[in-house]
Amino acid sequence: MSYYWFKAFHLIGVVVWFAGLFYLVRLFVYHAEANQQPEPAQTILKNQYAIMEKRLYNIITTPGMIVTVAMAIGLITVEPEILKSGWLHIKFAFVALLLIYHFYCGRIMKRLEKGDCNWTGQQFRALNEAPTVLLVVIVMLAVFKDSLPLDLTTWLIVALVIAMAASIQLYAKKRRLDQEKLTL
Ligand code: HEM
Repeated sequence: MSYYWFKAFHLIGVVVWFAGLFYLVRLFVYHAEANQQPEPAQTILKNQYAIMEKRLYNIITTPGMIVTVAMAIGLITVEPEILKSGWLHIKFAFVALLLIYHFYCGRIMKRLEKGDCNWTGQQFRALNEAPTVLLVVIVMLAVFKDSLPLDLTTWLIVALVIAMAASIQLYAKKRRLDQEKLTL
């Protein structure tokens, strides 16, 4: 029974962690785009975004990560046999990338606060696609395990995810260009 409790809270942790990661980088987009505002709005906005980012990272995102990892350790402790599964080792590699992304976002947050980050809103929008890819791959591995199908349906789903990510980027770019035309 404890295995189910660990799994339930593992999944709750994943939802909280990803909600935090997606919203954090969205705030980075607004933070970077605040540079286009005149003073004093620029300073007020940047200070406000810095506070929101710090609270989101420390109160939602990092605790979500800790709950996910702690519950995963619980799952493995209750059922150590699972460590022999090949899919779990591949999942470890992608989770390691996710952890690197998490701490990298923490570094960007500190640089934005110091005014020491030259990234544009468009670059942050592109960065925000990375956790989407990791989420899809990790969930696929966790659900299909060693029988992950590599047939046409899977590739169609992969193509759909890529097309969705690309269209979000293109739509954001179009909106930015339209806005630039309006301000000229
Ligand atoms: C330290 C990192 C992680 C470890 C060691 C880990 C390990 C595990 C284990 C042992 C299970 C139980 C599998 C089963 O009962 O068949 C599980 C389930 C699951 N994990 Fe993770 N996990 C980690 C991170 C993540 C992350 C980051 C995500 C999402 C992006 C994720 C998504 C899932 C899902 C969706 C399930 C449920 C699969 C199912 O029951 O069909 N895990 N995980």
